[in-house]
Amino acid sequence: MTRPTILTGDRTTGPLHIGHYAGSLANRLRYQDSHEQFLLLADTQALTDNAHDPEKVRRSVIEVALDYLAVGIDPARSTICLQSHLPALAELSMLYLNFVTVARLERNPTIKDEIRARGFGRDIPAGFLCYPAAQAADITAFKATIVPVGEDQAPLIEQSNEIVRRINATAGRAVLPEARAVIPKAGRLPGVDGKAKMSKSGGNAIALSASPDEIRRAVRAMFTDPDHLRVEDPGRVEGNVVFTYLDAFDPDQEGLAALKAQYRRGGLGDGKIKARLEAILQELVAPIRDRRAKLAEDRAYIFDVIREGTQRARERTEATKRDVVSALGLFEL
Ligand code: TRP
Repeated sequence: MTRPTILTGDRTTGPLHIGHYAGSLANRLRYQDSHEQFLLLADTQALTDNAHDPEKVRRSVIEVALDYLAVGIDPARSTICLQSHLPALAELSMLYLNFVTVARLERNPTIKDEIRARGFGRDIPAGFLCYPAAQAADITAFKATIVPVGEDQAPLIEQSNEIVRRINATAGRAVLPEARAVIPKAGRLPGVDGKAKMSKSGGNAIALSASPDEIRRAVRAMFTDPDHLRVEDPGRVEGNVVFTYLDAFDPDQEGLAALKAQYRRGGLGDGKIKARLEAILQELVAPIRDRRAKLAEDRAYIFDVIREGTQRARERTEATKRDVVSALGLFEL
C-alpha cells in the first residue's frame, strides 16, 4: 500500500506562530506516519507580495524550517523542500498559465479578498494575481491528493483542480490527479487583539519562539469582552479571544465548559481566565522554544535538511513535469 501524498506549505515571510500550530502544525505531526508528506518553504510565493523585501523572504526560510523542526517535524519522515530551488514548479507554472484566464484569476475569492484587503486595485503584481496557477503547479508537481489548508485557501485548491481537468482533457488521459482540501475543524485563530487574522505583520501574533515575557504580555493585553467591567458582571464568551484560544489549546475541555458557564453567569474575572491561558501557552511554547534555540546553533544541519529535502523533491517534481510535457504531446528533445 502506498501512502497518500500530502503537500502543504508556508510562505516564508516570518517565523510561525501559535495560530499555525493550532491550524496546521499539529496535524502535520500526525500525518508523518500515515502519509507521504512534503512541506514546501514557499519563498517564491512569498515574493509575490514581498518583492520590496527579498531579504525578509530569504531570512524567513531558515526561520520557518526551524519552526518545523522545533515542533517535531522529522526530516526522515517528512520532506522539507525549498520552492525557489525546484525549477519544475516554475516551469509547470508557466505552462498552467495557458490553462487559466485572467478573468478566472480575478474571480478567485482568495485573490479578490486579498486585492481588497491590501488596496492593490489594478496595481496588483502580476505574480500575485497568478499565484493560484503557481500553487496548482506546487500541488500537482508532487501529485498530491490531499492539501491541508486554512479555509481561506479552499478556492485555490478548487482552481487547481480546474486546471488539472483542463490539462487532463487536453492530454486525453488523467496525467494529473485532483486534490482534496482538508480544512482543520478548529478554524483560524484570531489575533490577540481580536482581529480576524493572527499575523506577524499585524503585530497580533504569539510566535512559536516567543519568550516567557512576550507570552505574558500578549495574554495580559488580550481582547476579552469590552462590556465585562466588573467580576460580578455576566460576560460574553463568543468573540472573547481568551476563550477562543482556550478552545484551541486547553487540554481540560470539561473544566473549560464549566468556566464558560461561570463567566456567562458572572463572578469570574478576566484575570483568572487569562492566568489559565497563560499557563497553558507557556507550557506549549517552552519546549518548542528550547528545541528551536538549540537547533538554531547548528545552521549547517538546517541547511542539510533543506538541501536533502529539496533534492528528493526535485526528483519527484521533474518526473511530473516530464509526464505533463509528454502527455500534452509537446516537443521533446
Ligand atoms: N498559500 C499558502 C499560504 O499562504 C502557502 C503555499 C504555497 C501552499 N504553496 C502551497 C499551501 C501548496 C499548500 C499547498 O500559506
